[in-house]
Amino acid sequence: MTPDPEAEEPKDAARADVFRAPVGTHDVLPPESDAWIGVVSAFAERAARFGYGLVTTPLFEHVEVFQRVGEHTDVIRKEMYDFTDKGGRHIALRPEGTAPVVRAYVQHRPTPPWKVWYIAPNFRYERPQKGRYRQHWQLGAEVLGVDDPAVDVEVIALAHGFYRELGLKRVQLVVNSMGDQNSRPAYSDALREHFLREGGALGDDFVARTQASPLRILDSKRPDWQDVIEHAPQLFDYLNDESRDHFEAVQRGLDALGIEHEIAPRLVRGFDYYTRTTFEFVSDALDAAQNAVGGGGRYDRLAEEMGGPPTPGIGFGMGVERILIACESEGVAPARPGPGIDAFVVDDLGDTTATVLLQELRDSGVGADRAYGGRSVKAQLKAASRSGAAFAVLLFKAEAGRGAVVVRNLATSEQLEVPREQVVAWIVEHRGATAS
Ligand code: HAM
Repeated sequence: MTPDPEAEEPKDAARADVFRAPVGTHDVLPPESDAWIGVVSAFAERAARFGYGLVTTPLFEHVEVFQRVGEHTDVIRKEMYDFTDKGGRHIALRPEGTAPVVRAYVQHRPTPPWKVWYIAPNFRYERPQKGRYRQHWQLGAEVLGVDDPAVDVEVIALAHGFYRELGLKRVQLVVNSMGDQNSRPAYSDALREHFLREGGALGDDFVARTQASPLRILDSKRPDWQDVIEHAPQLFDYLNDESRDHFEAVQRGLDALGIEHEIAPRLVRGFDYYTRTTFEFVSDALDAAQNAVGGGGRYDRLAEEMGGPPTPGIGFGMGVERILIACESEGVAPARPGPGIDAFVVDDLGDTTATVLLQELRDSGVGADRAYGGRSVKAQLKAASRSGAAFAVLLFKAEAGRGAVVVRNLATSEQLEVPREQVVAWIVEHRGATAS
């Protein structure tokens, strides 16, 4: 049985901690959040280059939307945050991103191919550990309405190149085919037979799970089950010609793009909706138990199961927190987009000059900041250094009387008097030059 994560948390201690982020969740604060927004904006930019538009769906859905995707999976059976709302509806917080996107497709019927990406938090009541949280964020992409293996290749390439663009070198791609609805039943039967024959001694839970869904046994990490899993028949041997052709075309496409991949015959992934191509990106920069920095696959029957027309689909989700752990461990720092602080205004006048100058700087595209509360010039200069700005603009009475300000290069301490009316243009001109 999966241990109850709550058993680890004494209720009294939890009560004393009510003004802390709940167990398994965390806040993301600056400056660490620079890397977070760096990752998200790099993906937004890459997805746009591939022709994907942003989709947002509600944080919660009718529970049935998710029940479709995994009646046999822990994520849906045990880990969902579900509740009854004040109108008596059974609601669940999103545990994963694909089902809501397919629900939105079925509801709105956009013209295929529908190529979308998303950034969204997901909620799973799991046992928290490094890289495994009760709220995690996923960047993902989905394509609905195309069966062509070229789409599988494009979707995989979108994710694969993203890790590379970030600078991650230790991310490996593993791929498999789950077969289609025609080849899967034969494999499930063979698997069930194998597990019941070889694993009868593994206990009631094993037998019950085998009977319910033998494929789910394959992705179990339970050490005592590994031997029988190791010797299980391989899905690949049960693929029909169509599934095999599709899988081979996907591999040819990956080869043509020089995308290295390993075939993982036991990769089944954690949801019931997968058909044909499945894949995962794993990084040895993470602990083995949580080493997937992303994963996805085809789900050619899901739209139909939600009452839509038959519509093939494929996509992936990538855990932002895990990507950030991998970045840290590989010494990669995703850069925040937009300007840093270029200029820091030090105010010894105490009137509205600083306020107006800051506005002018910011409206001209310059990152600019100030201290508040009438602090001493010395304290303000300290704050200026801390801000990372290249220049301080000093507003002193003597120069103000001449219609001027002092610009100080914070790296060299050189100072220069600049007419007040020209200082914004001066900073715009010089900010790149000294940025080190
Ligand atoms: P998933 O494998 O459950 O797939 O999650 C995708 C990624 O989200 C994982 O590879 C991992 O990086 C991250 N992740 C999952 N659970 C957690 C957690 N508890 N804490 C931190 N990170 C986590 C899906 O959710 C599918 N919707 C992917 C997909 C899209 N398949 C087709 N389209």
